[in-house]
Amino acid sequence: MATPQAAQTIRPQQDAEPLLDCSKLVRRFGSRTAVDGVSLDVAPGETYGLLGPNGAGKTTTIKIVCGLLEADSGTVRVAGLPVRAAPGPAKRLIGYVPQEVALYPDLTVRENLLFFGRLYRLPRRRLERRVEEVLELIDLTARGEDRVDSLSGGMRRRLNIGAGLVHSPTLLVLDEPTVGVDPQSRHAIMESVRRFGDQGMAVIYTTHYMEEAERLCDRVGIIDHGSLIAEGTPRELVALVAEKDQVQLVASGDLTRYAEACRALPEVEGADVDRSDEGTVHAVVRDARSLLPRLLDLAHANRVQIRSVEIVEPDLEAVFLHLTGTALRE
Ligand SMILES: Nc1ncnc2c1ncn2[C@@H]1O[C@H](COP(=O)(O)OP(=O)(O)OP(=O)(O)O)[C@@H](O)[C@H]1O
Ligand SMILES: [Mg+2]
Repeated sequence: MATPQAAQTIRPQQDAEPLLDCSKLVRRFGSRTAVDGVSLDVAPGETYGLLGPNGAGKTTTIKIVCGLLEADSGTVRVAGLPVRAAPGPAKRLIGYVPQEVALYPDLTVRENLLFFGRLYRLPRRRLERRVEEVLELIDLTARGEDRVDSLSGGMRRRLNIGAGLVHSPTLLVLDEPTVGVDPQSRHAIMESVRRFGDQGMAVIYTTHYMEEAERLCDRVGIIDHGSLIAEGTPRELVALVAEKDQVQLVASGDLTRYAEACRALPEVEGADVDRSDEGTVHAVVRDARSLLPRLLDLAHANRVQIRSVEIVEPDLEAVFLHLTGTALRE
């Protein structure tokens, strides 16, 4: 068994070197400060979501990260290499997917990808192989010979992402890749982004769809008025504002006694019976997921049959409201 001294010397393993490292970025436009001291880092294989309302400074930050806009102060490094507005080796490592679709409508899907790959002077054979890989990644292999102007909006968005991928970047930067896209295409785009992370690419991604950030991102930074006001995993952020979850148990049996037994648990802040529809016990608890097995054991012990369980956890929208006093989406 470890002695207390031994335990003290054991440290959590340090994370890998960040692939993207931004430090104290500031950018003003006239008297307006669009980015006001943003520092963040993204590890290889990590998907980082930059979440904030219109005008928060997301695109400005992203453009500085990609070396498309000069910061007034602060530094950006990708794989240790400084990113500046002037061309440099760091830029080859970055794939940028802009907020607006930028493709050639009268070229085919494959021709567009070949075009973007040639910008990076990839040798022909390698480029051709890579284009086929990218088509698979964005799920457009079957549409390779179709002209872009014959694609749906969601497919164009996916191809726009593909154009940022052809030169095999290690950091993929996406600015609102799912704006104005129907739910099905959004799902396809999100699945693609998830695969990039699985392949070891670092991804930084802006959005104001918080449910998307919650599902997709390993970590989220919330940006408002040019400053990062909170950062963490979606669960950590949610825990910042509320430690309470609601559990709704649709059940039959002696629910009054069951609710009373639930209330006796220290993690349960309240439990009431609602008989309006089916019999339901509403409980307000700390950390519903870890408590659930005990709530089910209690039901069993009280001969209560549970028919369904729903856990309602606070979401990032609640976090945003709490931190800024305003809703994320207008
Ligand atoms: N070229 C520019 N000239 C002047 N002001 C600018 C310029 N680009 C951005 N801004 C201002 O900087 C602030 C941040 O803009 P930015 O585009 O970074 O926001 P955003 O978070 O990307 O918003 P959205 O969700 O609407 O895309 C805004 O007030 C915007 O008007
Ligand atoms: Mg923007």
